[in-house]
Amino acid sequence: MRKRGRARKTRGRFIALEGADGTGKSTQAKLLASFLAKRGVPARTTREPDSPLILNALSGCESKKGACLLFAADRASHAEKVERLLEEGAWVVCDRFTDSSLAYQAGGWGMDLGQVEEVNAFATRLRPDATLILSCPPSLAAKRMRRRGGESGFDCDLPLQKRVSCLYRFLALRGAGRRIVDASGTQRQVGERIREEVEKKWNLKS
Ligand code: TMP
Repeated sequence: MRKRGRARKTRGRFIALEGADGTGKSTQAKLLASFLAKRGVPARTTREPDSPLILNALSGCESKKGACLLFAADRASHAEKVERLLEEGAWVVCDRFTDSSLAYQAGGWGMDLGQVEEVNAFATRLRPDATLILSCPPSLAAKRMRRRGGESGFDCDLPLQKRVSCLYRFLALRGAGRRIVDASGTQRQVGERIREEVEKKWNLKS
């Protein structure tokens, strides 16, 4: 006899968009989610850092270790939310995840990569199914940031952004679902490159 009860939903997919400031992640995360939705895929977007409490604490935090822990704390609760969405069958397109801490806290700020990884392993064991690292020349990213009016000391520190980009490239060499996507060109061109990666990985061509 057939067992009654609710059919188990197929677990969704978790796609992280990563990159230095000004590479266009936030816009592209929205574009990718709406592309997936048009293909009938239930897509949701999330972002880090997200919790107002943590954002507030970060703004007053002068310790690198403290900030690293705050980013990880934000990630721990964000990951639980993502996990629930994946269980419900949603595809989650996330604007930044663990690689951001590796790239910024280790690459940008010079913290020990192993220690940053340890802190993050404690925060969550969740790993993206695909990580698309948007990459463009830091000078172009800085220009975009200025155009957007987002020039703050933190965001437009060019040497820092170069170290961040460098660490992202290093992470891409490790593989584990990471791909570098050329983020120079128009929003449309970059969106097309991202969609190609996603279509290739999950065979979504209609
Ligand atoms: P956003 O500009 O993508 O909103 O991110 C805010 C800043 O926080 C950005 O400069 C990157 C930085 N950041 C870290 O340094 N470590 C992290 O783990 C995350 C998620 C962001």
